[in-house]
Amino acid sequence: MTMPAANPASQPAILVARAIPPQVLARLQQYFQVQDNQDDVQWSATELAQQLQGKQGLLATGSERIDAALLAACPQLRMVANMAVGFNNFDVPAMTAAGVLGSNAPDVLTQTTADFGFALLMATARRITEGEHYLRRGQWQRWRYDMLVGAEVHGSTLGIIGMGRIGQAIARRAAHGFGMRVLYHNRSRLPAEVEEQCAAHYTSKVDLLRQADHVMLVLPYTAENHHCIAAPELALMQPTATLVNIARGGIVDDAALAQALRQGQIAAAGLDVFEGEPQVHPDLLALSNVVLTPHIASATMPTRIAMAQLAADNLHAVLVAGQEPLTPVNQADPVARARRWAG
Ligand code: GLV
Repeated sequence: MTMPAANPASQPAILVARAIPPQVLARLQQYFQVQDNQDDVQWSATELAQQLQGKQGLLATGSERIDAALLAACPQLRMVANMAVGFNNFDVPAMTAAGVLGSNAPDVLTQTTADFGFALLMATARRITEGEHYLRRGQWQRWRYDMLVGAEVHGSTLGIIGMGRIGQAIARRAAHGFGMRVLYHNRSRLPAEVEEQCAAHYTSKVDLLRQADHVMLVLPYTAENHHCIAAPELALMQPTATLVNIARGGIVDDAALAQALRQGQIAAAGLDVFEGEPQVHPDLLALSNVVLTPHIASATMPTRIAMAQLAADNLHAVLVAGQEPLTPVNQADPVARARRWAG
């Protein structure tokens, strides 16, 4: 944020829905009348609407649902900045129709999230958490040639489904760092020069699932992508294959995945996201061939600060500088926007 602070009396009012890094909160306080939630109280949808009364802006995380009911209950709301790259918590058509702008937080988390995707792939293929549990239980008595043998990562074939910024960053690690053959599937094929930089080959989803030793999911969650990996897709994978999901819960049918893992249809899974999280399907919790992490792919402090700062910059751009969001997810309906912003 580079604009000088406005007169406090005329500062726009915003709500910060969850705890955020204090340095970003302090910067927001220079430009806005801020109601924060540094105690990280979990509000119901009704409580969120109550807290939002009279606020023009909301700094949200992926946990707050922004839907038609909330927008109708908060007529002064103009802008919602998500501190997440995914924005499946937004009902974008409802926001657009209501004249409310939205932004997400891309780019700043790309490398950190790609690092984590790779960490989860390594942990899953090389059975790291299973090995640690074995050791902690006191089961490690002596060396044996086939004790906890896993799957090769270097030189194997990685299939990436969803080839946006994070998928591409994973592909570069895989191809250039681990000598992997990289296949990808995406809604649209990437330009040839991007494919070349990532050393990635475009394939159909079916061919990718059949050929890959490891499958990494990095696609956004949309109605169309709901359960895009379910029993039929798992049946196409190799019995030695691993599946890694760092995208969103709901992309994988967790019950079908647990069954495929139990039956040895695939070898292992690394999961950072879950259907209905923070609940985790009990069948997954009972399996040893899964590595489970609590949605932490972007969790380093520099990245979390950068995500919060980008959300703050988006609020500043719209509500203080009178500009468009830096990283918009919609273009609000102009008539609804004029009506809402006049009110
Ligand atoms: C995390 O899941 C994000 O979308 O930023």
